[in-house]
Amino acid sequence: MDKLEIVGGTPLHGEVIASGAKNAALPILAATLLAEGPVTLSNVPHLNDVTTSVKLLRSVGAEVTFHDGTSLEIDSDSTNDFVAPYELVKTMRASILVLGPLLARFGQADVSLPGGCAIGARPVNLHVEGLAAMGAEISIVDGFVRARAKRLKGARIVLDTVTVTGTENLVMAATLAEGESLIENAAREPEVIDLCEFLTSMGAQIEGAGTSTIRVQGVAVLRGGPYSVMPDRIEIGTYLVGAAMTGGRIKIKRTRPNDLDAVLQKLEECGADVRVDSQSIELDMSGRRPRAVDIRTAPYPGFPTDMQAQFCALNAVAEGTAVITETIFENRFQHALELQRMGANLSIQGNTVVSRGVERLTGAPVMATDLRASASLVLAGLAARGTTLVDRIYHIDRGYECLEEKLAQLGAQIRRRHD
Ligand code: UD1
Repeated sequence: MDKLEIVGGTPLHGEVIASGAKNAALPILAATLLAEGPVTLSNVPHLNDVTTSVKLLRSVGAEVTFHDGTSLEIDSDSTNDFVAPYELVKTMRASILVLGPLLARFGQADVSLPGGCAIGARPVNLHVEGLAAMGAEISIVDGFVRARAKRLKGARIVLDTVTVTGTENLVMAATLAEGESLIENAAREPEVIDLCEFLTSMGAQIEGAGTSTIRVQGVAVLRGGPYSVMPDRIEIGTYLVGAAMTGGRIKIKRTRPNDLDAVLQKLEECGADVRVDSQSIELDMSGRRPRAVDIRTAPYPGFPTDMQAQFCALNAVAEGTAVITETIFENRFQHALELQRMGANLSIQGNTVVSRGVERLTGAPVMATDLRASASLVLAGLAARGTTLVDRIYHIDRGYECLEEKLAQLGAQIRRRHD
């Protein structure tokens, strides 16, 4: 199984280009099932989750052609199967995103239930209830969500909890429904906006994306065209934290700085000098140690749960004490246990982690448990004295494009081992 070997202690220095956003690419790939005619997507990151999505699209009969590393064409007119099997859903929960599109365009979908996951229960009840409100007949049969509808009907749906993929599934379904849908308490994440812009480019009528009320006027048909996926704000944030933790200085190009407001604010609070222009973000922490920062995760525009683990690593080496509170997922502190093995002084109390920063972590063999937890261990390795070996990095390959190449470009001593 692949491992990452990191020799810590070198400040990150230099420039990298941000990749396309995983969490925008996945719903957009699912949304291609709504389109008549081919869709060409660019800036799609080369990641295992994207490979899984492509497998899923092909397994329902869509034709997918790669043009080059980050651009591909999808033609879903040949779709002739409506099942998302357990083998694919279990490796990627976001497979649930085909539920809305398959049902809205083809009238049927059987999507395996994702089950538990390392960071918590993550149910899909809101996806299911929303589609039922739009007139779908939905039942859970043999571990599958079985949905049928002749044509979905617009509805007013008030989401109990802010859910990103839930909002995305319902917006996608509503684009081809009869009449108007109103989705209240909708997720406001930039990735939801990117999906809505893609759908609009295909002829969907959507208002309010980026606010908590999204209004969709159903249309009879959507037609494919070209679209470029937004930059990955979590990837960008991860490298910025890496530079802050190692006392480095980096510039990330092809970004959208506004998407990272909450993260950049915390980086400034920890003492980093952050400069942005329309497309790039530069962080300078040269030779300085960060100050610990309190964090409370929240739906966008709050602080993203997907950056919590990385800041946990930062606080571990920062000056002072801080409290990180996780409000979105109930079991998202497994990285803290591994960080402790590297000498971090962290204590987990319910949904909080209290940190007392140490001058230096020490390299150790550690185990990745989920995508962002893995990223935090890599960052800790970069800042630690000695060698860190991160095991189970298939989690990282799900969500970070060319992680070791990009970090090496920034001067890190990192290599992949195939033992
Ligand atoms: C998405 C992101 C993930 C991120 C998360 C929160 C993608 C592919 N993944 O995951 O990286 O960490 O948003 O920003 O975009 N919930 C319910 N019922 C539901 C759906 C959700 O109770 O039907 C709860 C969840 O248990 C969780 C909360 O809502 O406590 C938010 O989860 P949600 O936004 O749905 O996460 P995902 O969309 O799975």
